[in-house]
Amino acid sequence: MKGSKNKRPRLWGGRFGAGMAESVEAFTSSIAVDARLCRQDIAGSIAHARMLARQRIIPAREARRIVRALEAIQKEIESGGFSFSSKDEDIHMNIERRLIRKLGAVGEKLHTARSRNDQVALDMRLYLREEIRSIIGALGGLRRELARTAKRYLTVIMPGYTHLQRAQPVLLSHHLLAYVEMLERDRERLEGCIQRVDVLPLGSGALAGTTFPIDRAYVARLLHFPRVSKNSIDAVSDRDFVLEFLSASAILFVHLSRLAEDMILWSSEEFGFIELPDRYCTGSSMMPQKKNPDVLELIRGKSGRVFGHLQALLTVMKGLPLAYNRDLQEDKPPLFDTVDTVTASLAMMREVVREIKVKKERMLAAVKDGFMNATDLADYLVRRGVSFRSAHAVVGRMVRFCIQKGRRLEELSLRELRGFSPKIEKDVYDYLTLDGAIQRRRAIGGTALANVRRRLKEIGA
Ligand code: ARG
Repeated sequence: MKGSKNKRPRLWGGRFGAGMAESVEAFTSSIAVDARLCRQDIAGSIAHARMLARQRIIPAREARRIVRALEAIQKEIESGGFSFSSKDEDIHMNIERRLIRKLGAVGEKLHTARSRNDQVALDMRLYLREEIRSIIGALGGLRRELARTAKRYLTVIMPGYTHLQRAQPVLLSHHLLAYVEMLERDRERLEGCIQRVDVLPLGSGALAGTTFPIDRAYVARLLHFPRVSKNSIDAVSDRDFVLEFLSASAILFVHLSRLAEDMILWSSEEFGFIELPDRYCTGSSMMPQKKNPDVLELIRGKSGRVFGHLQALLTVMKGLPLAYNRDLQEDKPPLFDTVDTVTASLAMMREVVREIKVKKERMLAAVKDGFMNATDLADYLVRRGVSFRSAHAVVGRMVRFCIQKGRRLEELSLRELRGFSPKIEKDVYDYLTLDGAIQRRRAIGGTALANVRRRLKEIGA
């Protein structure tokens, strides 16, 4: 390449005596990654051109030609007729180059009062705003699916766990609605994130603003931004909105990963609580009997890259002097991959949840073992005037006795029970039933059926 003597001089080539080394071109080009911003780039340019005309910075008739040409370029891209070239570095240069090809000197006026620094910040915001909205939609889909499953198995009782040890009986529907709560917080976080994304950076120029009499509020109206950035230096170097999205996605992935893990465990022979749909499982190349929960494992595994993307961008940002630095180009691979991973995983998770089959009998059998009515028995003693701590100790001794004898608490006779505490009366057996254990937990947030029903109604399921 010979730089300015080349048939394809760089759009910024004037100052350079020699062209760029090919290795550098390959190393610095981002078109392979940022081509996906083409729609946003064109939309931003159209708004910019209209503003330039309105402010009489360029003639209206030239702006019209620019807008028409940009629309034509959009069509070329959509039809696959546009050829992207790494010679033009990024999506902004590729589109501007094509515009200039089409319009000559008129096309060269588009970049008046604009820098790629505010341009790329704009494109990223336009892009992310849309993606977050569609992710919020997909989150809603998964939440509805979980709620539907909760409704389908509304009264099924299962062991609740702490430390992965059987702890207290809960409704399966209550367990599923726990994920609905998590996803609701994810939705709130993403809605909050949109507030920070929805700020127009265009008009900040390279870093200091522009000498032209631009109308930023007008551009904001055209592109539906409720706010305009207040500091040009911040606007071109800020990627907080991307970090925020990556953080929200990382937390969302904690939730997806935990849900995947629950279902992987439940589908194992050892638990046997659910049956995963054949269509969403894969076999083993060696062991003919295997049915593996690969989809769920991959969702759990993909949390690794999403967490990594957050870490990657935090690291890119932490030492950057103000304002724009080329390092910022490295924001795109983590962002795009996160958007793709979140989008695909939410859709897959929804499908799997829709098709799981719950094995109620296995769940019920598991609840009956493990002394899961021990807390209720202690609570009973408390109602009879015993302090909770000594009730805890008494029931602990009962459990030890049962383990030695191979019996359950509810199988002990009244005499045997009274041997541990004279406060115990006949009504104790009501406190040892499973249904009772569920129904008594009716303070807000507890697993009582009435609570679960109310929550389902609140969330519109
Ligand atoms: N490709 C660049 C990016 O993604 C666009 C902005 C380049 N600006 C510059 N001054 N080199 O950040």
